[in-house]
Amino acid sequence: MTLDIKSTIVNSLQSALADELSAEQIMNLLEVPKTSKLGDYAFPTFILAKSRHQAPQKIAAELVEQIDKAPYEQIVATGAYVNFFLDKGEFAEATLQEVISAGDHYGDDNIGQQGNVPIDMSSPNIAKPMSMGHLRSTVIGNSLANILAKIGYKPIKINYLGDWGTQFGKLIVGYHKWGSEEEIKADPIGNLLKYYVQFHEAAEEDPELNDEGRAWFKKLEDGDPEATHLWEWFRGLSLAEFQKIYDRLGITFDSYNGEAYYNDKMDPVVDELTEKGLLEMSQGAQIVDLTVENLTPALIKRTDGATLYITRDLAAAIDRYNQFHFVKSLYVVGSEQTEHFKQLKAVLKKMGDDWADEIVHVPFGLITKDGKKLSTRKGNVVLLDKVLDEAVGLAKEQISAKNPDLANADQVADQVGVGAVVFHDLKNDRMDSFDFSLGEVVRFEGETGPYVQYSNARAQSILRKAQRGVDLNGQLTLADPAAWDTLKTLADFPATILRAAREYEPSVIAKYALRLAKTFNKYYANSKILVEDDELNARLALVQATSQVLTQALSLLGVQAPTEM
Ligand code: ARG
Repeated sequence: MTLDIKSTIVNSLQSALADELSAEQIMNLLEVPKTSKLGDYAFPTFILAKSRHQAPQKIAAELVEQIDKAPYEQIVATGAYVNFFLDKGEFAEATLQEVISAGDHYGDDNIGQQGNVPIDMSSPNIAKPMSMGHLRSTVIGNSLANILAKIGYKPIKINYLGDWGTQFGKLIVGYHKWGSEEEIKADPIGNLLKYYVQFHEAAEEDPELNDEGRAWFKKLEDGDPEATHLWEWFRGLSLAEFQKIYDRLGITFDSYNGEAYYNDKMDPVVDELTEKGLLEMSQGAQIVDLTVENLTPALIKRTDGATLYITRDLAAAIDRYNQFHFVKSLYVVGSEQTEHFKQLKAVLKKMGDDWADEIVHVPFGLITKDGKKLSTRKGNVVLLDKVLDEAVGLAKEQISAKNPDLANADQVADQVGVGAVVFHDLKNDRMDSFDFSLGEVVRFEGETGPYVQYSNARAQSILRKAQRGVDLNGQLTLADPAAWDTLKTLADFPATILRAAREYEPSVIAKYALRLAKTFNKYYANSKILVEDDELNARLALVQATSQVLTQALSLLGVQAPTEM
């Protein structure tokens, strides 16, 4: 029997049905029954009842007669369904053989055919702390890159830094008025943020400050040396701070081309919009009307001639297409920017760029604190570096309580603490908003990253104690019913990866990892593994396969899997 059980069942049904349904149709119809008493897979016959004008019960009974039963333990008709019971021994053997021999490549696919997929991710704003929202974008984007690479796409991770725009004019004004080099050197982002907040407070009293800010931004756009120098300085300092967080997360980028990179690349876009008659004047500003698309107009140039966020995004989207001829172009950005990305696509479509259909905004929900929205401007921010430090601290406490002799305890605490934060972020459907509570994140039980890591470390410790490897030529059939859920979950990994990719949803992988850890822990609690008998080799194979797949799943999420903790 091949591991791909579903294909085996599809083949069986197809030969019984002659050409009444295509393999794809059958594949899509197959269900997993609610209870395993009804078998491992079920095929509903309603669709045939329609075309054959026969009762579905009768068709199900007939099919059971016609299908070759060899690969199965049993096939029975229950009402309108044909229920397939797999041969558990053979299934175990095929699954374990495949998982262990494929190693890290288990679940690989080539449906991507090396197609380029730029992923716009992280993209924090210079001179401001990286927010929890940017953290979400970073870890979701990174996980999507891993998932897509696994199935044959070429992800290109782009950190589209928010390093341009009128806020830099305001920042320069703030710095001139209240700032000093010493202060900035002592705490770059903290103090830049302080000037920015101060600017907004002062501008409420004295609106003329806004004009000053705009004037400085204009200077920056025109290449004024002082403005450029300050901007470069602020940018460099901010990037160095962001880099610390990326390093802790183990995340790298292929490009840091942000908004500033497109400063001198917008003219051709504006020209093209003009040539194609898409630009309209509206109260002195230049806009693209999107009434037909049911969207608010896209503001391309302000009254003072300054370009906007969407103008730069247009230039960037076109640049990405010219450079990569992408098959998909992803933007991992909070759901509050949904309208912006609709406008972006709509304007590109109006320009005749049909590839805009392949632009996908991958939105996500907010992280709140005590039910409240986090906001940089109000100073209500969660500082990421602190969150990671605290998570690592908590992990360390738990590890020294559980395993006081652990040799590389500091390194493991780092992997567990950081992994916990990342896993917590990825286990929720990305559109869900959630409240951030550190104690919840770093628990060793429940639906947490440490729980998955701990399950893997437990599997590794069994393998160490066994003092022998798995023999792939030895017996791999495993009749123990307690192992069945874990085996089925292992076999489900390839399909799970495809689903996560199709839905751009890393939580599918995180939930899978939790499920595998849970079934494995249940197995471990009910079965003696290290006993000398016929099934020892198969049990060790199950433990090894589980550890391999847990490690892989965590790595797709960007989380490390320590072998001891
Ligand atoms: N810097 C922006 C922000 O923090 C996010 C940029 C998202 N990417 C893009 N291509 N617009 O809101």
